Amino acid sequence: MNDAVPTPAAAHASTAEVLARAAAHAPGLWSPEVVFVRGEGARLFDADGRRYLDGMAGIAVASVGHGNARLADAIAAQARRLIVCPQNLGNDVRTAFVDRLVAYLPERLSRVFLANSGAEVNEAALKWARAATGRRRVVAAKRGFAGRTLGALAMTWEPKYREPFEPLAIPVDFVRYDDVGELEAAVGDDTGMIWLEPVQGEGGVHPASAAYLQRARELADERGALLAFDEIQCGVGRTGRFLASEHAGVVPDLATLAKGLAGGVPIGALVMTDALAAAMPAGGHGTTFGGNPLAAAAGLAVLEELEARDLMAHAERMGRRFREGIEALGSRRVREVRGLGLMLGVELKEKAAPVIAALRDEGLLLINAGASVIRFVPPLVIGEDEIDEAVAAFGRVLLP
Ligand SMILES: Cc1ncc(COP(=O)(O)O)c(C=O)c1O
Repeated sequence: MNDAVPTPAAAHASTAEVLARAAAHAPGLWSPEVVFVRGEGARLFDADGRRYLDGMAGIAVASVGHGNARLADAIAAQARRLIVCPQNLGNDVRTAFVDRLVAYLPERLSRVFLANSGAEVNEAALKWARAATGRRRVVAAKRGFAGRTLGALAMTWEPKYREPFEPLAIPVDFVRYDDVGELEAAVGDDTGMIWLEPVQGEGGVHPASAAYLQRARELADERGALLAFDEIQCGVGRTGRFLASEHAGVVPDLATLAKGLAGGVPIGALVMTDALAAAMPAGGHGTTFGGNPLAAAAGLAVLEELEARDLMAHAERMGRRFREGIEALGSRRVREVRGLGLMLGVELKEKAAPVIAALRDEGLLLINAGASVIRFVPPLVIGEDEIDEAVAAFGRVLLP
């Protein structure tokens, strides 16, 4: 199947050759040890032909799996039809995508601004919130992650990411996540936006309680602030609902989506109420590539695939199977398994990095979420046997 996909002539090289060549021009931010050349569903293959199970999906991105035929065909067909069409000009596929996206959202969230990444739509959220409220302050959560650009970085808690670049232009009050009292104390008459991840990703895979998100909604209304949910990692069906905030029954004024929304093609979407959209003057924000027909075709294919394969219900089932499987191992090295759907964290009583390295040697690719949490955010198409295979790899590594 996928073996038939031709590889660019220049790419035939071993892991060692690629890594040596890559090191010469890399910006020095990462030290990769594996080179992936191909994927199929929840499988990845490295340059030396080794097969892995993908438990990270490019950090919650490859929602409909690698080498997905519907997605690949949509991208190829659109590439031949039209790639470039900025948002000041209309486009059929963009409109079809937005229509389909809005159909998945609560009725209030009927306006969509399209961009190219998570950080970019969080930046857009900051501008829209300021335009609508005239207030600069943001209340955000400790352990939260909003991205690396300077506005989004201001809402990102992790001091090692944020502090070297301070002062940042956005005044942010950080509160303990899921702590109603701290939220009540922090949201004031000068708060423009309460910004929260309904399930924190980078911060260790922590779902908020429904009561907390509901109180955030009330506080925003009482004090004239906007409620923003960052659904970049937890949205697009990963938790078993299209938006993770649906589990709490809370509708925000704005939400940001990215990562899995176009299955790996760069995209970001800020979705918001009519009233909020109207607050930005015409031409007050924009982006060259946002809403390009290629990303829109990919997004449309992802939404079709979610529906055709009932992937949200599947994510819920597979997540339960993984969680129960890990719990049944009974490893004394595991503190807790938590999360929703296929957004799960295995918290260890030890550092995660060596365990992740050992799991990779077992053919299971994962990423951490903080020092002691292993994140499991595989493609939503992962199958039962693959879940069992992942659990078995944990067993080999974690049991004496
Ligand atoms: C919750 C959340 N918000 C924002 C971002 C930033 O998205 P991007 O890396 O596309 O800029 C991420 C990325 O990990 C994220 O997990």
